Amino acid sequence: MIISIDGPSGSGKEKIAKYIAKKYKLYHLDSGMLYRRITFLILKNKIDINKKNHIKKFLKDLKHISAKKHKNLRTEIISKATSKIAKNKEIRNFINYQQKIIVKDMLKSYKGCVIDGRDIGSNVFKNAKIKLFITVSAKIRAKRRHKQLIEQGEKSIYSRILKGIILRDKTDKKREISPLVVPINAIYIDNSLDFKNTISQVNQVLEKKL
Ligand code: CDP
Repeated sequence: MIISIDGPSGSGKEKIAKYIAKKYKLYHLDSGMLYRRITFLILKNKIDINKKNHIKKFLKDLKHISAKKHKNLRTEIISKATSKIAKNKEIRNFINYQQKIIVKDMLKSYKGCVIDGRDIGSNVFKNAKIKLFITVSAKIRAKRRHKQLIEQGEKSIYSRILKGIILRDKTDKKREISPLVVPINAIYIDNSLDFKNTISQVNQVLEKKL
């Protein structure tokens, strides 16, 4: 059983996915982490993604990529670079394949998986039993991200965060391959208010559909 959660940057997909995974004892895969890790490796190895041969060789040597979370993959520099690198066709094919392998493997020990990203319900797991699409205005997302960074003791300027979010939304929605779209049959979850409100919407959907 697959549950897909898609939505724009900073819309709270991960928190919702974690909640569902814990409640129903499902495996949670954060597809954004795969894109972030590959971006980190591309930058570290100075791979020129505009050169098809370079990227092909890099992916062939890499073979697998871990979905393990790391706070260094959440920095604004990696976030910005990731949405650029996520436009690349070879990279997307590679990550899609990795997701399929991870899910297949996890379904041996879990009864289902919750996967969050941008193109999960629309492209990677079109057969998902439940498809959620998370919405929150860019301003609220920027405010939350700004608060989080300040709490972590990092420097943050609200206007810069908002600009970054708007730019990433644009890049994710306008890219040619697998853009951020609302999947057919997806159910909207409005994550603008507090988490309790969001969870009550999520529970209503799950109780009806599971
Ligand atoms: O946490 P946040 O929502 O800001 O981002 P993320 O889910 O970690 O994803 C980082 C970036 O990876 C996004 O801006 C997308 O460009 C890309 N991504 C994607 O293209 N497709 C996915 N399924 C997941 C992420």
